[in-house]
Amino acid sequence: MRHLLSIRDLVRDDVERILETAGALQGVEGKLPTLQGKLVLSLFFESSTRTSSSFELAAKKLSADVMTLKSAGSSVDKGESLKDTILTLGQYEPQAIVVRHPQIGAPQLVVRHAAAAVVNAGDGKHQHPTQALLDLFTMRGALGRLDGLHVAIVGDVLHSRVARSLVQALALVGAHTTLVGPPTLIPRGIEAMGCDTATEIGAIADADVVYVVRMQRERMESAFVPSLREYAARWAVTPERVRPGQKVMHPGPINRGVEIDGRVADSPDSLILEQVRCGLAVRMAVLHDLLAAGAPARETAAVA
Ligand code: NCD
Repeated sequence: MRHLLSIRDLVRDDVERILETAGALQGVEGKLPTLQGKLVLSLFFESSTRTSSSFELAAKKLSADVMTLKSAGSSVDKGESLKDTILTLGQYEPQAIVVRHPQIGAPQLVVRHAAAAVVNAGDGKHQHPTQALLDLFTMRGALGRLDGLHVAIVGDVLHSRVARSLVQALALVGAHTTLVGPPTLIPRGIEAMGCDTATEIGAIADADVVYVVRMQRERMESAFVPSLREYAARWAVTPERVRPGQKVMHPGPINRGVEIDGRVADSPDSLILEQVRCGLAVRMAVLHDLLAAGAPARETAAVA
């Protein structure tokens, strides 16, 4: 693997290999010398808690040097473009660049202007491939399999790069997805990605996993639901709407009382914190795959 920009760039074997490496790395205590002498740049042009912290920690646990730059407080605030930021930081000769940016396709631009392996840590509402990989890893750990699983993704799918990446990743490993939410927040024609859609919350009943996504108001240009209160009344994942044993996931940040009831988030069936733990192992595995594994190079230039 040369870059990780989109789940579309992966075949099932790539996914299996990364999950296997993550499994092997998860048990390791302390640091591994694998990436000694390598520099990982982590560039966040959008807010992040889990993704930025886990990439930084993952790189450190593999003994890489890490430099994290957040757009707030950097010269991006002064109008410097992504291209100029990359050309500038490229002078430090990083081996990997992890980038989150509000614009779709920004990671491809980084590929064009840097010699490093590029990891997309979220580009607008397009893709968030490492989130999908860590979600698969979490599901397989909790349920013992991926093939044949039924996952219901509930909420603002339209603005969710997490949902888009996850639908593709689940299809790749033989799992099935139902997207559930208000008709205005389910992208038209998304069934072409190999999933079904439903507008009633009752559609989550048969799912092995209920995967909740946030109302991403920062990406909404107009009102897609009458109010958050009405949204919650019809689509919030509450204790009454899930059954014992049905696993609940959420990429975070959660908005308690909006898309998810706090009692569900804190219940024994919630995998939300497990996702965070798995995120560290999967991001270590991704950095390992890109920088240490010596797998055949594959160019990924197009926005998939
Ligand atoms: C998500 C993101 O940034 O796409 N968060 C994450 O990476 N864990 C989801 C979100 O912001 O709702």
